Amino acid sequence: MMFAHALCALACACAAAALRVGVGIADVTGPPAEIAFMGYANFEQVGHGIHLRQFARAFVLEDDTGSSKQRLVFVSVDAAMMGHGVRREVIKRLQKRYGDLYNDQNVILSGTHTHSTPGGFLIDFLFDLPILGFVRETFVAYIAGIYKSIVIAHNKLTPARMEYGEIEILDANINRSPSSYLRNPPEERARYKHDTDKTLAQVKFVSPTNAIIGVLNWYAVHPTSMNNTNRLVSSDNVGFASVMMEKALNGNSTAPGKGNIVCAFASTNLGDVSPNTMGPRCEFSGKVCDQEKLLCKLPKERCFASGPGSDMFESTRIIATKIYEGAMQLVHQPGEDVTGPISSMHQFVRMPEQQAHPYDPVSDTFDTNVTVHGCLPAMGYSFAAGTTDGPGAFDFKQGTTSGNALWNAVRDFLAEPTADDIKCQAPKPILLATGRMKFPYAWQPSVVSCTVARIGKLTLAAVPGEFTTMSGRRLRRVLAAAGAEKVVIAGLSNVYADYIATPEEYQAQRYEAASTIYGPHTLDIYLNKYKELADALTTGKSMEPGPEPPDFSSQLITLVTPVLWDAAPWGKEFGDCVKQPDKHYGYGDTVTATFVAGNPRNNIRHGRGYGTVERLVSEQDDAWVTVATDADWETKYIWRRNSVVLGTSHAELHWEIPEGTPPGTYRLHHYGNYKYILGGIYPYHGFTDPFQVGQQFYKSNNSIR
Ligand SMILES: *[C@@H]1O[C@H](CO)[C@@H](O)[C@H](O)[C@H]1NC(C)=O
Ligand SMILES: *[C@@H]1O[C@H](CO)[C@@H](O)[C@H](O)[C@H]1NC(C)=O
Ligand SMILES: *[C@@H]1O[C@H](CO)[C@@H](O)[C@H](O)[C@H]1NC(C)=O
Ligand SMILES: *[C@@H]1O[C@H](CO)[C@@H](O)[C@H](O)[C@H]1NC(C)=O
Repeated sequence: MMFAHALCALACACAAAALRVGVGIADVTGPPAEIAFMGYANFEQVGHGIHLRQFARAFVLEDDTGSSKQRLVFVSVDAAMMGHGVRREVIKRLQKRYGDLYNDQNVILSGTHTHSTPGGFLIDFLFDLPILGFVRETFVAYIAGIYKSIVIAHNKLTPARMEYGEIEILDANINRSPSSYLRNPPEERARYKHDTDKTLAQVKFVSPTNAIIGVLNWYAVHPTSMNNTNRLVSSDNVGFASVMMEKALNGNSTAPGKGNIVCAFASTNLGDVSPNTMGPRCEFSGKVCDQEKLLCKLPKERCFASGPGSDMFESTRIIATKIYEGAMQLVHQPGEDVTGPISSMHQFVRMPEQQAHPYDPVSDTFDTNVTVHGCLPAMGYSFAAGTTDGPGAFDFKQGTTSGNALWNAVRDFLAEPTADDIKCQAPKPILLATGRMKFPYAWQPSVVSCTVARIGKLTLAAVPGEFTTMSGRRLRRVLAAAGAEKVVIAGLSNVYADYIATPEEYQAQRYEAASTIYGPHTLDIYLNKYKELADALTTGKSMEPGPEPPDFSSQLITLVTPVLWDAAPWGKEFGDCVKQPDKHYGYGDTVTATFVAGNPRNNIRHGRGYGTVERLVSEQDDAWVTVATDADWETKYIWRRNSVVLGTSHAELHWEIPEGTPPGTYRLHHYGNYKYILGGIYPYHGFTDPFQVGQQFYKSNNSIR
């Protein structure tokens, strides 16, 4: 045993010389105030501060075994999804700097799918509608941060080894449309123990001296532990898991986004997977709701899922901890070595025009005698019902397979679906014929982006949307049959084209199916396409690049008003602390302070933040060190406009003092920028009076919890 292990280590070390890896992390936080969040489509969920900052985590891989060096870029971004506009700009900037080294073929940008981050960065009108249109501030923040993370990773390329491992995490997710899942054939379901994927797949990059460089994993769960009432920017469960692992590996005192070791918890086939493990319950009675129609007894009583914690913050922390701990176990055990070569194949695909052979999930074959085709994009009625993670605004029910005259009239006013559209999308009743809606520009994409990348035995399928559990399983089986040993699905990559339910799930028309926009055979088309891409990699055959999605950037509409001006109240200055914290605090207490502030949209302060917690280290020198930033779990930055006319606003800093904080003298420090009424944007800062933290103050009256 020993001998075999030593031999392997030697062999691995030799093979490893061919692979080089660089990792990079950069702040991508969007405008944290006055912009609606992307995900729940809730006009009222407008940001007003930060709980957890957003980061882009980049991994650049290079393999120089063959005659030509091959590169692959994978970036996991704390955002609801990625869109073509952002990717096009990122690649454009990379090409300005590096020529054609990075291109459509080898750059994968994947959103984690957090529902608590600013929107308005997609180019398609429907997705930006709840945000009041396109928001250039969000768009630019994401592009700048993603680009920076890739440049850092590029500059840090170093010889590395790559190890793969898997672990089961049982109690961190549930299926939110279990009745849809049951529509899949029993023979197929019998292959799986659960109705969601419970396996976390992870790659670990280590240096030749076995130091960890970075970790990248995929676990199927919606980052919707923070619900649609949350108005603080948050990377949610998976984002916090990343922060925890980066702290554990870089040292606990490393601020989020500042460590050398980068750990990404990326999205995969999470379409029907919820983190709200207590399941759907009625808002007032607390009783389990009718699973199929999600009905509660009282007329205005909504049904939504929550848990496992007592509020959304605790739920986020619990789910994050579960997946972090599972992933950490894998970090500490040896994995299977993965070596090159690296290759990737990408194609833009115009979905409504695709033809495909339907896939039989029982026999695992494509029926080549039958041809099915895609439809123009359309959303079904149940889309408007929302899900149990975020119920919709109107009186729509999931599982709706017939329309109603009033909403059909509204729909036809926007764009009337043709008889062919209706037939093509059946049994989906069309609520929005988005494929026919061209005003002011396209509402949903017709062209998607598909990538298959290979690193030796590991195959990565980057998909432009949210595959349900069974859709993802089918894709993995198809790619395994096409020769891949390990298959990982990278969700919400490059373009966002909603959900991908199986044809069987499509019949039930729950939310995921209503949002499967290219009709009942959407999945079949993808299965054919990804197999084609994988086969092309195997045979070395080239493929057409496909039609690049249209560029609407000159037509984009926004209703978001710019920052007009900021002003401090009479007798005050920006940064003045108008509500001081108390003098003493114990562990578990929350320190709060209020400052005269400017609008955070004046400067997104990437990598610097709006606030810090500082400890006094030398009284003589008045020297303070930062112990927490506004990206840390323990802190919250909350901004409130007091008067739009006067331009006055307040910023609150909150710090929940963690157990184990060294006793001593502390202060809160606020940073910001204000917009002067006569023009110009200027920085300011201010801090609180010092206060004492210590065990003896435990359970004092200060706690606001
Ligand atoms: C970092 O924090 C974790 C969790 O609180 C703790 O278990 C660990 O011992 C800490 N590590 C160091 C080096 O302080
Ligand atoms: C969101 O979570 C909070 C608790 O943190 C809860 O009071 C509220 O009812 C939840 N709302 C929804 C729609 O889930
Ligand atoms: C396809 O058609 C051929 C010829 O009619 C037949 O032999 C074959 O069994 C069919 N295949 C399937 C999968 O139905
Ligand atoms: C909390 O404050 C009240 C009133 O100020 C005081 O009577 C009480 O003793 C305090 N409790 C603690 C635990 O300090």
